[in-house]
Amino acid sequence: MKSQIIGIGSCVPDKVVTNADMEQWMDTSDEWIQSRSGIKERHWVSEGESASDLAESASRKAIEMAGIQAEEIDLVIVGTITSDYFFPGISAQLQDKLGLGTVGAFDIKAACSAFIYALSIGDQFIRAGTAETVLVVGAEVQSTALNISDEGRDTAVLFGDGAGAAVLKASKGERGILSTHLHCQGKHLKLLWCEEPGSNHHPRMTEDLLKEARHYPMMNGREVFKNAVTRFPEVIQEAMDANQLSIDDVALIIPHQANLRISQAVAKRMGVSMDKVYSNIHKYGNTTAASIPIALCEALEEGEFSEGDTLIFAAFGAGFTWASAAVKW
Ligand code: UT7
Repeated sequence: MKSQIIGIGSCVPDKVVTNADMEQWMDTSDEWIQSRSGIKERHWVSEGESASDLAESASRKAIEMAGIQAEEIDLVIVGTITSDYFFPGISAQLQDKLGLGTVGAFDIKAACSAFIYALSIGDQFIRAGTAETVLVVGAEVQSTALNISDEGRDTAVLFGDGAGAAVLKASKGERGILSTHLHCQGKHLKLLWCEEPGSNHHPRMTEDLLKEARHYPMMNGREVFKNAVTRFPEVIQEAMDANQLSIDDVALIIPHQANLRISQAVAKRMGVSMDKVYSNIHKYGNTTAASIPIALCEALEEGEFSEGDTLIFAAFGAGFTWASAAVKW
């Protein structure tokens, strides 16, 4: 039994924030942002728009492409670190918005790797025969978490909002998820994290913590970069080895979109041109758990792959977590 991806969908907010906008709000430049990250613009939510709204829109598109009724879904898994509320997870809101009655739903907080983590869990449910149709989503609103000032410029310019979704269906055919590999190395967690509001003190948020800016994401960019350019090729190779594939058998690598330079380094280490490593970071920035399904949707629309092709998804991010999935489309 395999899990076939029978429908995908994505959604980004309408509001476009350009590098020129960033120049107005902090000491940065279009030149710095583009040369260091490849980002030209990103989409940010407007007041009243939330991660669960983006997740719903992406899910409805995926359900439509799958040609199923929403009621056929028997499990919902959402990768996100930016749920609308501190609790419960965004999956409960999405489950309700889609009118899914009492179907099980939960969140996965594996940051940039969360879509692949969620895909892997959905795949295990299907292979075990516990579920037949699983909705897997990556949805993030990072913009409301950012420190939009000179102090926060190293992270604020990088992140965007968006969501992507995939419907997995049990299938006995050739097409589907061939393998997934999940990794974590928690000893590095403070190199990319958001400390507050934490449950390890009472009250969880104080004016002092806010003044100290401990509720903003913190990243040691250089260290994250160094680890990413090692872990991406490693986990892509792991996916190929598990399926006795050579790089020539892979039609397209769809990496998490964190930095164009990371993707270029991955291409170099894998000995392929950038034609084989999909990139759309210039339009969306880093959308964390949403970046792979958004890229998957665009790559399909652009005719970058077709039925029968082998794809590899790969991600690296906070935790550190990293992961890959090999998929026969
Ligand atoms: O998705 C989660 C995983 N995240 C990642 O994979 C991100 C990994 N890291 C990166 O992508 C890169 O490290 C960054 C894009 C974050 C930064 O690029 P970098 O080439 O590593 O720059 P840097 O952090 O070494 O900073 C270089 C300089 C610094 O100035 P000094 O110390 O050399 O004087 C920074 O203060 O650039 C400065 N800088 C900025 N300048 C203009 C930092 N942010 C900005 C900015 N605009 N927005």
